[in-house]
Amino acid sequence: MNRIILGIETSCDDTGIAIMKNGKLLSNVTFTSNDINKKYGGIVPELSARYHCKCIDHVFKQCIKKAKIRINDITHIAYTSEPGLIGSLHIGKIFANQIAMLLDLELIKINHNIAHIFSYFIDHSFEKDFFPFLALIVSGGNTFIALVLNFDNIKILNQTVDDAIGEVLDKIGRALELPYPGGKSIDKIFTHGKRINLFKHSLANNKFSFAGLKTKILNIINQKKYSKSTIASSALNWIIDDLKIKLLYYLSKYPLVKNVVVGGGVSANRQLQKELQGLKEVKCFFPTKIFTNDNGAMIAKLADLKITNHKIEKCFVKK
Ligand code: KG4
Repeated sequence: MNRIILGIETSCDDTGIAIMKNGKLLSNVTFTSNDINKKYGGIVPELSARYHCKCIDHVFKQCIKKAKIRINDITHIAYTSEPGLIGSLHIGKIFANQIAMLLDLELIKINHNIAHIFSYFIDHSFEKDFFPFLALIVSGGNTFIALVLNFDNIKILNQTVDDAIGEVLDKIGRALELPYPGGKSIDKIFTHGKRINLFKHSLANNKFSFAGLKTKILNIINQKKYSKSTIASSALNWIIDDLKIKLLYYLSKYPLVKNVVVGGGVSANRQLQKELQGLKEVKCFFPTKIFTNDNGAMIAKLADLKITNHKIEKCFVKK
């Protein structure tokens, strides 16, 4: 019997829905509330939730049409249950529940962060001997390194105690008056030219912290001594160095690990990709660009991997 999985992602500002048949993506539609949020230079939770409400039905219909299936063909429904903005998560949950009631299916709850970890495998095959690996997740809401032993055995080794990297880049971008989202704009104006000497990195085994960088950069902007591009590139370089220091520390602690999977919106950053792919100690894998940001495909993919690897007890198939 075919596995036709509906994946629903609404944890933040992107409304993402995808349909996957036997592990292959049939359609993946994402609507983003960037245009609404950009007026404020960041995500306004209430506006994002209202946006999901307004467009989720439309995203779903487009997805069904592109996948060339009938609603009745769906055999599994997976949705993001945590973590995320409460209003946004609720819309996805209610929508998933409605379809589940209509089709008489049970729901598969998916953790958003774990879905990011496996997003590289949306369009690359997964073999079990890929375990154990390290995951580096860098997004607008999260920054962490995890040791991934299995689908349900994931140990967070380090995470930010304050801002996530995407959030810091967006705030620096806003202070520099760059178009929203700042992370993407900073990628565009990155140069290899002059560098501002910022401050020393914390010890490799310390938790990630980026609030100090944010304050330092704001002070530098106020000095009006450097160009936007020099400031943005120096901040990004500092962040990348910090990620490398910590990643190399955990690689030395877990010598069996040979692979690092990177994920989340910031993993689309070209300089980050170049530097991590240049590491000789490890092989780094980055998701295809359209899967770096929040999307429904990663929710459907993790559900599919869990089903095919018997990590979901019952297969929730239609009666
Ligand atoms: O994973 P994601 O879609 O969702 C949230 O967690 O919100 O990540 C969004 C973040 C934003 O902060 C955005 O600035 C950042 O990803 N981003 C980038 C790039 N593209 C998106 N940061 C650096 N370089 C990029 N090319």
